Amino acid sequence: MGLTPTIAIVGCGPGHPDYLTAAAVKAVALAEVLVGAQRLLDLFPQHPAEMIRVDAKIEQVLEAITLRAGKRVAVLVTGDPGLASLAKPIIRRFGPERCRIIPGISSVQAAFARLGLDWLDARIIDAHGKDPDPGADTLTGAAKIAVLGGRARSFEWLKQTMGDRLRDYEIHVCEDLTLDSERITDWQPGSVLERTLSSRTIFILVKRG
Ligand SMILES: C[S@@+](CC[C@H](N)C(=O)[O-])C[C@H]1O[C@@H](n2cnc3c(N)ncnc32)[C@H](O)[C@@H]1O
Repeated sequence: MGLTPTIAIVGCGPGHPDYLTAAAVKAVALAEVLVGAQRLLDLFPQHPAEMIRVDAKIEQVLEAITLRAGKRVAVLVTGDPGLASLAKPIIRRFGPERCRIIPGISSVQAAFARLGLDWLDARIIDAHGKDPDPGADTLTGAAKIAVLGGRARSFEWLKQTMGDRLRDYEIHVCEDLTLDSERITDWQPGSVLERTLSSRTIFILVKRG
């Protein structure tokens, strides 16, 4: 018989509490320890659990969980755990039998929903933590591209990597989805975007024609 899961990896949606699922709320309610970024912990202000605020450093998260062995831990992640989250290293370290994944509403889903588009044919690229591999060659021809781009350099990476091919796409800059500060801007290649983009930004590229 496997070990009882003691680590819930909980997808908390794109940010607004309306986008937390009931399953996420239930999983968090059972936890004795909550681990996550401050803005995710803030989704559960009344929770009596021990709150461990962590930044994106994975070792810090793994250490926090290790030190609470035997306790019911909920690790809060943005969006869905299956997309560029801490879930992978946590499962690798502690084993799948000790982890339970609670899906969440991804920021990618929220972006396509706002634009009224399906995303069956979308390529999803993670430019959040660092410049991604693959480069532009593998993106050529993609009908839709979603770029997780909340890092200061992500937009530069996108422009450099796609180059002139950007002109083949409508480019939607989706910031702070579901939050009061949500903003969706259409950007034309060659024009200047005169502001610092939010650390919660997705670029959605839709092929013209
Ligand atoms: C580490 S990834 C996590 C993705 C997350 N697991 C998901 O499913 O949305 C962080 C990236 O998610 C995107 N993101 C998260 N919340 C967002 C929001 N409210 N609006 C726009 N983009 C968001 C940004 O692209 C950010 O760079």
